This record gives sequence, C-alpha cells and structure tokens, in this order.
Amino acid sequence: MNDRFLRACRREPVDATPVWMMRQAGRYMPEYRALRAKHSMLDLCKNPNLACEVTMQPLVHGVDAAILFADILLPLEPMGAPFEFAKGEGPVVHKPVTCRADVDALRVIEPEDGLQYVLDAIKTIKRELTGKLPLIGFAGAPFTLASYLIEGGKSAHFVKTKRLMYSEPETWHLLMSKLSEVVRRYLRAQVTAGADCLQLFDSWVGQLSPEDYRDYVQPHVAHILKDVMTLGVPVIHFGTGTYSLLELQRDAGGHVIGLDWRTPLAEGWRRVGYDRAVQGNMDPTVLFAPIAVAKQHVDRVLTAAEGRAGHIFNLGHGILPETPVDTVKAVIDYVHEASARRT
Ligand code: CP3
Repeated sequence: MNDRFLRACRREPVDATPVWMMRQAGRYMPEYRALRAKHSMLDLCKNPNLACEVTMQPLVHGVDAAILFADILLPLEPMGAPFEFAKGEGPVVHKPVTCRADVDALRVIEPEDGLQYVLDAIKTIKRELTGKLPLIGFAGAPFTLASYLIEGGKSAHFVKTKRLMYSEPETWHLLMSKLSEVVRRYLRAQVTAGADCLQLFDSWVGQLSPEDYRDYVQPHVAHILKDVMTLGVPVIHFGTGTYSLLELQRDAGGHVIGLDWRTPLAEGWRRVGYDRAVQGNMDPTVLFAPIAVAKQHVDRVLTAAEGRAGHIFNLGHGILPETPVDTVKAVIDYVHEASARRT
C-alpha cells in the first residue's frame, strides 16, 4: 500500500510529499474524452463499472490517491431537485429553489435511497485498487450546494442565494440544515462502503464575508465535520477564495485544510495551526506554463511547507479541461523527486 497520502493527512513523516490533483479524472485526458463520446456525464457517475474505469484513468500519472468519480451535485436529484450537465453551460437545475415551500418540499434522504450507485462504485473501485492506493470519497458543502439549487447553475455574484439568505434567514437555515444532514449521512455511508478519506468541497464559500460565513454557514458545516471526523478516516475541508475565512473553516472542522494559491501556504498553515495538515496550493493555470516554470512553482510550494509533516501537494482548485497531460505527469514526478531530496 502506498500510504504516503494517509500518513501526511495524519501529520506523520513521509518519504516524499504525496500529491493528487482535484478533478484528476476529466476532460484533459484523451481516455476520458473517449468514454464521454459514448456516455453522458451522469451515465458515467451512475454506472459503477464506468465510474471505476474513470477513477482509475489518472492513476497512471503516479498520483498518491484515487478520488471517486462522481459529482457534488448528485444528492440534489433524490432530494427532489433534478438537474443536467448541459453542453457548454455546466450544471442546470431544472426547477431552482425560490421560496419556503420549495425548501419544505426537499427530502432529507438516506444515501441508500437514491445514491446507492455511488456506494456501489466505491465498492467496485476498492476491489480494483486492491489496497494499493487510498480512495478519497467526497461531497459538496451546504453553501456550495445551496448556490446551485437557488441560482439554478453557475453564478457570478450569487445574488439569488444571498437574497434568500439575507431576507429569509429561517428558510435559509432550514435549507442548510437539510443539505448538511443529507451530506453528513452520505459521507458516513461512503466510509462504510470503503472510502479511506473524505473531502468536503466548499468551492464557492469564498464569496462570503467572515461575519456572514459565521452566521449563515459555519454551524451547518460543523454539523457535518464534527460527526464525520469521528469515523477514523482523515477529513479534508476545502474551499477557494478563503483567505479571510481560514480560522473559521478550521473551527468548523477538518483534519486537513485546503489552501488555494491566493493564500501563501506558509501563512495559511501558520494561521490554521500546525495541529492540522494542509493541502495545496499551486495555481491550476501554472500547468499551462513551460515545464521548467511549473517546476519552479512546485519548489515554491515545497519551500513554503518547510518539510513539515502534514503537507499534501495539490492544486488550489480543480485541473482545467485543456491542461497538457505531459505537464501534469512532469509536475507529479517532480513533487516526489524534489521533496525526497529535501528530506
Ligand atoms: O476530482 C475528481 O477527479 C473527481 C470527480 C469530480 C467531478 N466533479 C467530476 C466532474 C469532483 C470531485 C467534482 C466536484 C465538483 N463538481 C465541484 C467541486 C470542485 C470544484 O471544482 O470546485 C463542483 C463545484 C462541481 C459542480 C460541477 N460539475 C460543475 C460546475 C461542472 C461543470 C463545469 C465543467 O468543468 O464543465 C461539473 C461537471 C463535471 N464534474 C465534469 C467532471 C469531470 C465535467 C463533465 C464533462 O465531462 O463534461
């Protein structure tokens, strides 16, 4: 078993810094595009054998962890808010949530009731990994999920989301409670199915001021994390644009805190505290630079981590669709080489 990744999550010494990349399975890989030519994104997620095949695709690059192929939006459908991935537009929720009655109608499901295919995919992937690499399970955090439910898709200013939050706080908190309870159950079920680690994605939470995060979001995130942190697997708490939220996110929970490239890693880790591990934080667009320049950025991240136990190398956000595969491979190899040389 390559256990570098799990050791780093637990802040134990490692022979080289572990690395994986958010969205490591996806459109930048020709093998993924070939499968997508035959199947929709939702078909890939809903068929455990296909989800397993896609999960395995990026492992040839030498990453230290596999991440379940799925999407943060999958729980919305069984909760009563079906959506599709529309070509060129990203996710589209067919009937966005607008009022109290819409929130009342959302079902607080058990994961076996509507998401069994994800749990089956985890079991299939675990068999295929034969214990060689750890498997990361994941879910979306309630603010990020609520933003898709309310906006109906991607958003620039999150106006509808914040309007509901500011003008109907009771409705907002009911929605957040329902989402966080579903996510808590779903993450628990993923560990029962075999996930070795969990990541909570709060991709858009950086849209909030610290005060609003504290009042409208933090208790709901804590509801999830305080529970799943007791399951014996490491839990990663990830967001972007979170420079002003780091301490509040840490207090909400997570054994590992995600940092994006706008937070200097050394400062972020100091503020989060050395009793937590950190994950990050190279800018995903650095992978479009010449390989020699990308290596300089790797060195910068490793220098900021100071060889301290508990650093997982990752990008600050997901890998982009046009990323050159050769640079991905070169960066992964270089993280291992350069960090092993330093220890
Ligand atoms: O990391 C992995 O390899 C696992 C798979 C994974 C996907 N989505 C597959 C996917 C994970 C962890 C996610 C998480 C996810 N999904 C997030 C949080 C992470 C982040 O990047 O912020 C968010 C916000 C979503 C919602 C989502 N799903 C969007 C906005 C989109 C469309 C945007 C785009 O890139 O087209 C998706 C679709 C999606 N999810 C794709 C993949 C591989 C592309 C689908 C395709 O093949 O067309």
